[in-house]
Amino acid sequence: MEKEKGIAVIDSGVGGLTVVKEIMRQLPSQPILYMGDNARCPYGSKTPEEIRAYSFQMIDFVTRTPLKALVIACNTATAVVLDEAKKDLPVPVIGVIEPGARAAVNATRNGRIGVIGTEATIRSQAYTRSLLQIKPDLHVTGLACPSFVPLVEKHLAHTEEARRVVSETLTPLLREELDTLILGCTHYPLLAPVIQEVVGDSVTLISSAEETARELAAYIGPDERKEKQAPPDHVFVTTGDTGMFREIAEEWLSRTVRVEYHALERSLKS
Ligand code: DGL
Repeated sequence: MEKEKGIAVIDSGVGGLTVVKEIMRQLPSQPILYMGDNARCPYGSKTPEEIRAYSFQMIDFVTRTPLKALVIACNTATAVVLDEAKKDLPVPVIGVIEPGARAAVNATRNGRIGVIGTEATIRSQAYTRSLLQIKPDLHVTGLACPSFVPLVEKHLAHTEEARRVVSETLTPLLREELDTLILGCTHYPLLAPVIQEVVGDSVTLISSAEETARELAAYIGPDERKEKQAPPDHVFVTTGDTGMFREIAEEWLSRTVRVEYHALERSLKS
């Protein structure tokens, strides 16, 4: 029997797992092929040329497997390669920025939205463009938080150090009277309890995960999981430490996962 085509999900590291969790919830019968480039994470401090080259190395790898769709579950990569990947690939390609922007516009009441993300994402202004395209009179404040991703990648999201770093970094946002804050990096939902504590309960945190999975479902159709159907075969591939990846993935997804190692070329290619 022909193997069912899966959904590929890529990220610079473990951040895309926040999107995977939501895909598993909304589309439980879809097999997922995940790739995290943990060895070269963070992407957020790299140049657009590096981000493009590394992202396409991942795309080349995952597209060796027949796919139904590709989710670029990394805001940094979405900002740089989404349009090009959409043109190149014969399957739907879904990014995380437009879904996040849509969810934030639906949530805000006072029109004051904050966006936190990597340096590359904030520099690209991709969220500001997306938000203002939906609603031109919004007030948008962006803040790069380069120290957040390393905390998550090192599995330190629950520590006192994380609380201190998040609190120090987000202080400038507290005077902006925001009612909505976009977690514009897929790693940040793993820090959500600490972020919420720092910004206070009056601010709604937006993660792109739910809206991205909804967009994916709109492309591939509703999930019709049969009662007796065997659970789908998910595979998680990392370019980094499989043990650390497994620890974070199993905790976040509340299930055991199969993790494989795969090295990507170190050199840049254009
Ligand atoms: N998770 C990624 C994002 O959504 C990027 C983290 C990084 O590699 O800097 O932007």
